Amino acid sequence: MTKQKRVLSGIQPSGLMTIGNYIGAIRQFVAMQHDYDSYFMIVDMHAITVPQDPEKLREQTESLAAVYLACGIDPEKATLFLQSQVRAHAMLGWMMTTLTYMGELERMTQFKDKSAGKESIGTGLFVYPSLMAADILLYDSDLVPVGDDQTQHLELTRDLAHRFNQRYGDTFVVPEGHFTEVGARIMSLVDGTKKMSKSDPNPNAFISLLDEPDVIRKKVSRATTDSGREIVFDRENKPEVSNLLEILSAFSGQSIKALEAQYEGQGYGAFKKDVAEAIVATLAPIQERYRDIRASGELHDVLKRGAEKASVVAEATLRRAMERMGFVQP
Ligand code: AQP
Repeated sequence: MTKQKRVLSGIQPSGLMTIGNYIGAIRQFVAMQHDYDSYFMIVDMHAITVPQDPEKLREQTESLAAVYLACGIDPEKATLFLQSQVRAHAMLGWMMTTLTYMGELERMTQFKDKSAGKESIGTGLFVYPSLMAADILLYDSDLVPVGDDQTQHLELTRDLAHRFNQRYGDTFVVPEGHFTEVGARIMSLVDGTKKMSKSDPNPNAFISLLDEPDVIRKKVSRATTDSGREIVFDRENKPEVSNLLEILSAFSGQSIKALEAQYEGQGYGAFKKDVAEAIVATLAPIQERYRDIRASGELHDVLKRGAEKASVVAEATLRRAMERMGFVQP
């Protein structure tokens, strides 16, 4: 019997999960758990690279865990766990940091975006990609399903794995990224040139998976559009309309070409209504399951079992890497 390939990915509890995270990431996780040995994390140690209110962080972490389950992650198939409950992440994260060059981190566009205009920038935000590399390498991950905003971080992970293997001997599996065809980068509803982010200070810029139907309808109807009337996919000249087309395609399963044909000659009003209703229809059952999961109290047990299982794999890899690097083992 051939060994199943291993998949690993994570989402930060830095806000309520958006439809961007859903389309770009979690939808793929749900599909992949059937065919791969799957590990999905809540990367709470990444969330603290920008200041977080402790009470809010706890709530957002539990909420995100419940959203994972509500979206269809099955804890009998996939290992769901909190990064902070597997201490090996911190240790390998430091080891990877020592292997990373300043220039590599300075080039990261996510760091540039998140630090732009800030007076004081935490060093955690700067070295975040080295910790992300450790997250992935600890599990000998073959594939990492992510949105395309993570391409640069993933490339660095691969470079660090090669660098370590060259310096200290073959230790890590060099992972591949796995990207969705539609919706690898969902944009803000307010500014079609900016990525939709759960930590955007303007709540109209994103749709959270837990937004009420009327809130979703309002946000979509107010979404920025250009002054034209044509519903065509043109990222350059019509970024907002293209984004709505991509969202509708992801939620309805129809191709962008088919949608362009369907809305030919129609104005933005009817189109936006359909976008909103497609989102509402997909999120309704997820929101119902979410409420049941939160009420059931099953979360802590799922996360505890997940952390125990993940720790076994992570500790074995960490031990191997520490031995290679020259640490004396007990
Ligand atoms: N807009 C997006 N479109 C498609 N995929 C996206 N992802 C994030 N935003 C989009 C994918 O979601 C996964 C989890 O991301 P994350 O929480 O680890 O961090 P992020 O990429 O920084 O996501 P956010 O929502 O923008 O978080 P904040 O606001 O905290 O920075 C990743 O696979 C990501 O590609």
